[in-house]
Amino acid sequence: MDAVNPGILSKEESLSLRYGDDSIPAAGPWNDHLSVLLSHRSVRGYRTDAPPAGTLETLIAAAQSAATSSNLQTWSVITVTDPDKKAALAKLANNQKHIEQCPLFLCWLADLSRNQRLGEQEDVTLETMPYFETFLVAAIDAALAAQNAVTAAEAIGLSTVYIGAMRNNPIEAGQILGLPPGAVVVFGLCVGYPAPGVTNEVKPRLPQDAIVYHNTYGNPNEAQLRKAYDAKMAAFSQRHEMSQDTWTKRVIGRMGKIPAMSGRDKLVSILNAMGFPLK
Ligand SMILES: Cc1cc2nc3c(=O)[nH]c(=O)nc-3n(C[C@H](O)[C@H](O)[C@H](O)COP(=O)(O)O)c2cc1C
Repeated sequence: MDAVNPGILSKEESLSLRYGDDSIPAAGPWNDHLSVLLSHRSVRGYRTDAPPAGTLETLIAAAQSAATSSNLQTWSVITVTDPDKKAALAKLANNQKHIEQCPLFLCWLADLSRNQRLGEQEDVTLETMPYFETFLVAAIDAALAAQNAVTAAEAIGLSTVYIGAMRNNPIEAGQILGLPPGAVVVFGLCVGYPAPGVTNEVKPRLPQDAIVYHNTYGNPNEAQLRKAYDAKMAAFSQRHEMSQDTWTKRVIGRMGKIPAMSGRDKLVSILNAMGFPLK
């Protein structure tokens, strides 16, 4: 048991950490697996020691057990342990130090290239390849697979953080990793044991009433629910010395101005150049 992985909590404790005591949903059936799921938190400081032999294979088996659209399996993953490559990838991602620290950095790909090669080997044109829908399927597949790996990692005492900043510069990332046309890193994932002193806590989420609608979209109390959540996030931010203290400020900071996209505003033309016409 440590600050990041406090062991298996009860249902009540798990829900309280996730939502705050005033918004605990009336959750029903429960087991330890759910407590692990609810205790997720991103970790941004790692020990450099590698996890035990076979850990990667365990995580990938979990990832491959995720559902995949039509069993097309249009994702791949590249494990990056080479310090030079990790440093180069970190540089592309605003120098996020945890990329270099973590013993295992996983680059998750939306990968249509394997099935494209299948078509070429079988002398068949796969007409659906250039469509946006096909890219979306690959990106969704990659995300579902990665999240299964995250859950598996947390279940065996490891921590993770996704790195969406890998999309700041997908062409360079692709060059570093030797990607063929039709493959792109959709995000990275740091995996490892938290460094001593890393005391992340579960980050509260919006109350269920703000995101679950019954039969018809919407909740007339949305603005009040947001204000109440802002107060929780302000308290969380204060404990973690984060600058944008409320959720409202965070959303505006991240979505208000184009420079916050860190180059991702050009993603469509970049994807076009990488072999995704997105028709
Ligand atoms: C697709 C994706 C990309 C992300 N990219 C980054 C990133 O580049 N750097 C980072 O520090 N955290 C990144 N995160 C982590 C989120 O900031 C984090 O999940 C969110 O703040 C909620 O916190 P929690 O994971 O601790 O619950 C990313 C998360 C997702 C799902």
